[in-house]
Amino acid sequence: MKAPDRYAVFGHPIGHSQSPRIHALFAAATQQAMTYEAEDIPPEGFNDAISRFLGSGGRGLNITVPLKELAFLVADTLSPEAGRSKAVNTLLFSPDGHIHGDNTDGRGLVRDLTLNLGIPLKGRRILILGAGGAARGILEPLLKLEPAQVTLANRTTEKARQLAFEFEDLGPLRALAMAALQDQQYDIILNATAASLQGDVPPLPDQILAAGGCCYDLAYGKEPTPFVLWGLQQGAVLSRDGIGMLVEQAAEAFWLWRGIRPDTPSVIATLRGTH
Ligand code: ATR
Repeated sequence: MKAPDRYAVFGHPIGHSQSPRIHALFAAATQQAMTYEAEDIPPEGFNDAISRFLGSGGRGLNITVPLKELAFLVADTLSPEAGRSKAVNTLLFSPDGHIHGDNTDGRGLVRDLTLNLGIPLKGRRILILGAGGAARGILEPLLKLEPAQVTLANRTTEKARQLAFEFEDLGPLRALAMAALQDQQYDIILNATAASLQGDVPPLPDQILAAGGCCYDLAYGKEPTPFVLWGLQQGAVLSRDGIGMLVEQAAEAFWLWRGIRPDTPSVIATLRGTH
């Protein structure tokens, strides 16, 4: 009998990754013969680890922090999202050794917002907090859905300006200093900073969330994140963490690897119930 196809996630650290669990649920639900492991790979060992995985017949990888920019460099071909964001979270290996890189984070976020949570993006005023890799990965798919405006605000304003400059040809995108958010209003506020991981919320003025507005934290944890709690305090109609995005970006990778789209709401419910 043919051995199961091999997949893995590389990151550093990787101990708390939910990806093995998510892909095991997908594989069981779709009856795919595959294995999926988590490997702790420091940046200096990344290229060797890729060669080893490829040499041993590995079929695909998820790549997480801090290796996404390195994965961008090893790919022979890139999806438009990966090319734009200069970061890769999914690698697909062909039997001849060809490496294709994709970035499914933005598509995952957009699917969670629009399909799972029913939040339309077209014509809405969106504020993105943060200007690091997480913000970079979501800009193209968000701008494609024709929001009225996307505003970037970051603790270090210059990084937001630079990011806006790189993507402003794709739609109405601007950068503002955090201090300039006073008197502004947004329909959707996305937290793409690492603040939640430190138990912080970026400093935002009261009244910044428009009536009927929604908040979404790309981060997630065992408890509601500080930003999710902040959104609820501000009267958000919906204030959610990034578990749905995590599952949806994994489903996009699974689709690329296996050509099958797994059911995601049931997996999100399983993770929410027990994580
Ligand atoms: P990632 O790849 O997860 O986006 P990153 O590139 O290190 O990680 O970026 C982290 C983002 O979170 C940055 O926008 C950072 O702001 P700076 O550019 O000013 O460093 C933001 N960030 C981190 N900790 C924060 C905090 N406590 N409050 C507000 N913003 C924070």
